[in-house]
Amino acid sequence: MPGRRRAARVFAILIAMSMDITPVLAQNLEEKAQICSACHGENGVPQERTTPIIWGQHQGYTYIQLRDYKRGTRKDEQMTAIVADMDRNDMMALAEYFSKKPWPNLQQLRADEATTMRALRANVAVNCTGCHLGEYQGDGTVPRLAGQSAEYMSKTIAQFRTRERANNPGMSDLMIATSPDDLAALVAYLAGR
Ligand code: HEC
Ligand code: HEC
Repeated sequence: MPGRRRAARVFAILIAMSMDITPVLAQNLEEKAQICSACHGENGVPQERTTPIIWGQHQGYTYIQLRDYKRGTRKDEQMTAIVADMDRNDMMALAEYFSKKPWPNLQQLRADEATTMRALRANVAVNCTGCHLGEYQGDGTVPRLAGQSAEYMSKTIAQFRTRERANNPGMSDLMIATSPDDLAALVAYLAGR
C-alpha cells in the first residue's frame, strides 16, 4: 500500500517538524524580545527617559506602532532599523508578549495641585479620557498614558504637533488645538499617575 506508507511518512515528518520547529519559534520570540530589552529595559524600565514603556502596553496599540515605523508614517532612527526585517506575525507576537508583562513604575513625582487642576480642566475641554478612558488606562489601539515617561510624552506630543509623527493625523489636530501649557500640565499629571 504505497499510498498509506506515504501518508504515514508525511505524518512522521509533520510530527518531527512540529517537535523541532515549535521550540525554535518560541526561542526566536524570546530572542527578539531580548533585543528590545536593551533599550526598553530588562524589567520594563527603559534605559533612557525619552524611550517609552512598552511593558503592559496594549497589544493593538503596540502592533500599530511597529507597523507604522515600518510603513514610515512614524520615524525613529533606532525603531525604523529594528522593524526593517519584521513581518506582521513578528509584530503581533511581540506586541502580545509585551502586553502581558506588568506595567513598571517609573517613580515619577505626582503633579502639584495647580498643575493637576490645570490638567483636569484641559481634559474637560478636550476630553482626552473619551478615548484614553478612565484613569488613562487605554484599551485596544488606544495607548495607556498613566505612568508613561514624562520626557517621552513631551517628545512625542511635540512630534504630533509638527506632524513629524504622522501616523495619526487626528491626534496631531488635537494636539495642535490644545495649548502647550495645557499639554505640559497633562504630561506632568499623567506621568505621576
Ligand atoms: C536601540 C534602542 C531600541 C531598541 C533596541 C528597541 N527600541 Fe523601541 N523605541 C526606542 C525609542 C528611542 C523609541 C521612541 C521613538 C519615538 O519617539 O518614536 C521606541 C519606541 C517604541 C515603540 C512605540 C511605543 C509608544 O508608546 O508609542 C514601540 C511599540 C517599540 N519601541 C517597541 C520595540 C520592540 C518590540 C523592540 C524589539 C523588537 C524595540 N522597540 C527595540 C528604542 C529602542
Ligand atoms: C479621539 C480620540 C483621542 C482623544 C480625544 C485623545 N487621544 Fe491621544 N491618542 C489617541 C490614539 C488613537 C492614539 C494612538 C495613535 C497612534 O496609533 O499613533 C493616541 C496617542 C496619544 C499619545 C502617544 C502615546 C505614546 O505612547 O506614544 C499621547 C501622549 C496622547 N495620545 C495624549 C493625549 C492627550 C493629552 C489628550 C487630550 C489633550 C488626548 N491624547 C486625546 C486617541 C485620542
